[in-house]
Amino acid sequence: MSAPAFDLVLRRARVATASDTFEADIGIVDGRIAQLGVGLAEGRREIDAAGRVVTPGGVDAHCHLDQPMAPPVRMADDFDTGTRAAACGGTTTVIPFAAQEKGQSLRAAVADYHHRAEGKAHVDYAFHLIVSDPTPAVLNEELPALIAEGYTSFKIYMTYDDLKLDDGQILDVLSVARQHGAMAMIHAENADCIEWLTKKLEAAGRTAPRFHAHARPMLVEREATHRAIALAELVDVPILIVHVSGREAVEQIRWARAHGLKVFAETCPQYLFLTAADLGIDDSYLGAKCVCSPPPRDASNQQVIWDGLNDGLFTVFSSDHAPFKYDAPEGKKPGGEEVAFRHIPNGIPGIETRLPLLYSEGVLAGRMTLNRFVELTSTNPAKAYGLHPRKGTIAVGSDADLVVWDEREFVLTNAQLHHAVDYTPYEGQTLRAWPGLTLARGEVVWDGSTFQARAGRGRFLRCDAPSLLPRR
Ligand code: URP
Ligand code: ZN
Ligand code: ZN
Repeated sequence: MSAPAFDLVLRRARVATASDTFEADIGIVDGRIAQLGVGLAEGRREIDAAGRVVTPGGVDAHCHLDQPMAPPVRMADDFDTGTRAAACGGTTTVIPFAAQEKGQSLRAAVADYHHRAEGKAHVDYAFHLIVSDPTPAVLNEELPALIAEGYTSFKIYMTYDDLKLDDGQILDVLSVARQHGAMAMIHAENADCIEWLTKKLEAAGRTAPRFHAHARPMLVEREATHRAIALAELVDVPILIVHVSGREAVEQIRWARAHGLKVFAETCPQYLFLTAADLGIDDSYLGAKCVCSPPPRDASNQQVIWDGLNDGLFTVFSSDHAPFKYDAPEGKKPGGEEVAFRHIPNGIPGIETRLPLLYSEGVLAGRMTLNRFVELTSTNPAKAYGLHPRKGTIAVGSDADLVVWDEREFVLTNAQLHHAVDYTPYEGQTLRAWPGLTLARGEVVWDGSTFQARAGRGRFLRCDAPSLLPRR
């Protein structure tokens, strides 16, 4: 008797890619998709997916895992718990950030970050760089060399004292992106406006978490987005504006596109499912759970974000998972204290809930097509960061990173999640679906109820030139 043709066959799946939906069997050999078709030969293992939607595993192109923080603050998720949560929520590739501290070499930041990931990841991972100190050595030597070695994207900040660059530095870094074909991601908020507003709020005794949103109105995001676009135009390089929160930044990006500029944009679940009211309508410290930057806006801005997801304004939908425990001295209560909003660590968890939230409220609620869901959550992030077609699609030769969806209604609680954070901002939300099976390179990592742990199975991915960028 001849050996089975495949290691695994997923039978009669309703396969959804960014462009098509069709019924097929998926034959997997050595962790890759070997054949797609009807009536495939037998596999060593068979899974019946009859009538169930199967999408490519999610690519979460903006998440923070075990990123070094100033003590006592520490991220709750490392590569073990963070990628565990990712897998259980259907994400099979993550791209967190190797962050340069001022005064540190970029190489040292990358080496340290590899050390943090080593032996821990459950799904595949690549790194973006964060450039906070663009010295001549960084600009002329380290960055070009690292881009050539597979770190083809980096984030720069226009806010946060320890990370922000001035306009001249941004121009320098964008020039390197242009010359070496890297994707520049920009956190666009005006630091001086935020500082000025924060001081005024503090002088008036307005230090509760909800005032975080008052210190970062849409105007500060609009101005920085406009400036980032102008700087990119000057250098003549595409950019990607990350975590766009609402109307005013969206208008700037639409303006840029209308003028022929290549400006990509990312948004995140918090701008669809949270509002500034989640930071508190009174001075309760519970609002610290939803302190992130830019802050969530209001219901009308949520609609602007939905519209942008559907009409092509947004290229990628990421979690911006920035995991801090609420009730912990290393988390939202630094040193064990309820602190003024300026000292609350920025960021919220969302690596596990990103796909189920969008699948439930986008696809199943009729707001978004299944194919657009795949494009935003998997295909485009893989293309934007040089991982496509290995990741981000269901095609012969691609890694067998797959999600089989269970469509059932339930109420989300943090106890169901697999991150190491003690809350989810989406507690009590009704969801209509959850991954019933996640395959990562053909291995079951989540079966719908149990996480199949094998820390270290996740591999580091070197990124190619982003395929969304023009070749020079
Ligand atoms: O509040 C946020 N978004 N924290 C994470 C860091 C960042 O700026 O993305
Ligand atoms: Zn940011
Ligand atoms: Zn972030």
